Amino acid sequence: MRKKRIAILTGGGDCPGINAVIRAVVKKAIVEHGMTVIGIEDGFEGLILNKYKTLSYDDVSGILTLGGTILGTSNRANPYNYPVIKRGKTEYKDLSKSVKQNIKKLNINCLICVGGDGTLGIANNFFKDGIPVIGVPKTIDNDIKGTDITFGFDSAVQIVTEGIDRVHTTAQSHHRVMIVEVMGRRAGWIALYSGVASGGDIILIPEIPYDINIVAEKVRQRNKKGKRFSIVVIAEGARPQGGDVIVQRIVKDSSEPVRLGGIGFVLGEELEKITDLETRTVVMGHLQRGGAPTPFDRILGSQLGTKTIDLINNEEFGNMVGVKGSNFTKVSLELVAKGVRLVPSNHILVRSARSMGTCFGDTL
Ligand code: F6P
Repeated sequence: MRKKRIAILTGGGDCPGINAVIRAVVKKAIVEHGMTVIGIEDGFEGLILNKYKTLSYDDVSGILTLGGTILGTSNRANPYNYPVIKRGKTEYKDLSKSVKQNIKKLNINCLICVGGDGTLGIANNFFKDGIPVIGVPKTIDNDIKGTDITFGFDSAVQIVTEGIDRVHTTAQSHHRVMIVEVMGRRAGWIALYSGVASGGDIILIPEIPYDINIVAEKVRQRNKKGKRFSIVVIAEGARPQGGDVIVQRIVKDSSEPVRLGGIGFVLGEELEKITDLETRTVVMGHLQRGGAPTPFDRILGSQLGTKTIDLINNEEFGNMVGVKGSNFTKVSLELVAKGVRLVPSNHILVRSARSMGTCFGDTL
């Protein structure tokens, strides 16, 4: 029987741990099954422009601890809606047919798509169009449906926690309100976990819209008790009750065009006005996506990578490898494409933070 040929691409925003997945896929495919693995460059763009290379065992040696992705990525290359510049104007074209032809030419048994909901949604479309696909959940946001956790999240939480710890000491010295804005799109996972890990006094997440007067009152109460500083952790997707999110920019060609950001500054200005306390805002930004993965993400990425090869061997295409409790599962890409996984407002961590006096901006 012909040994299998498989291809792997990484799409959307990068995050720590992608290289652990690539390494695990390539090593297991070669060592255990003698497969050939093709690395597609820059996400789906590599399938549009035919940018790829065969990955050998040596190519993935020594990449476990590296951040980013050795294959490159793109969050603008959706083959179903690809921007083409014609006479100075951008037009959007459906290039999926030519991508399917390019995939056929590669003569592969499976295309592995490592990505967030955008990339996995595109992967699902290709699966429905007849391409054997397996997805691997990747994002710092931890917001992919069908899995309890995504790799990259733990690393982001670690970086943000360290950032908040640093902000804590300067907040104490200057008796200031320090606001730390973190990523996560419409989900508050990063804010919730890093906020609890760093003992944030106020945690504002998209799933629990806040009342500015309650936030101000919490800060005032702390001051009255002699705690002359406060730490506010705010998710980029947080919004006031009855208000809307702050959009920083629109990336037109992206499968998820809205980029959030700036709510930390809005909150800072308002809080300063209401409380008369000096306020500073820090935006963690892309720091939380860069650098080496934590041991947890290295391990999770490695396990997801090896599990992917099992799914390929069983020809269980159209699925994503996921985590449920302490088990690895397969989840249909159709379910994954249905939306994002938000923090339930009664999540156990929200409840336990509340019971320790943390304010979520909805009640004191
Ligand atoms: O999805 C990952 C993420 O880092 C989000 O948390 C953030 O909103 C977005 O990507 C930023 O995207 P970009 O790298 O295009 O600015």
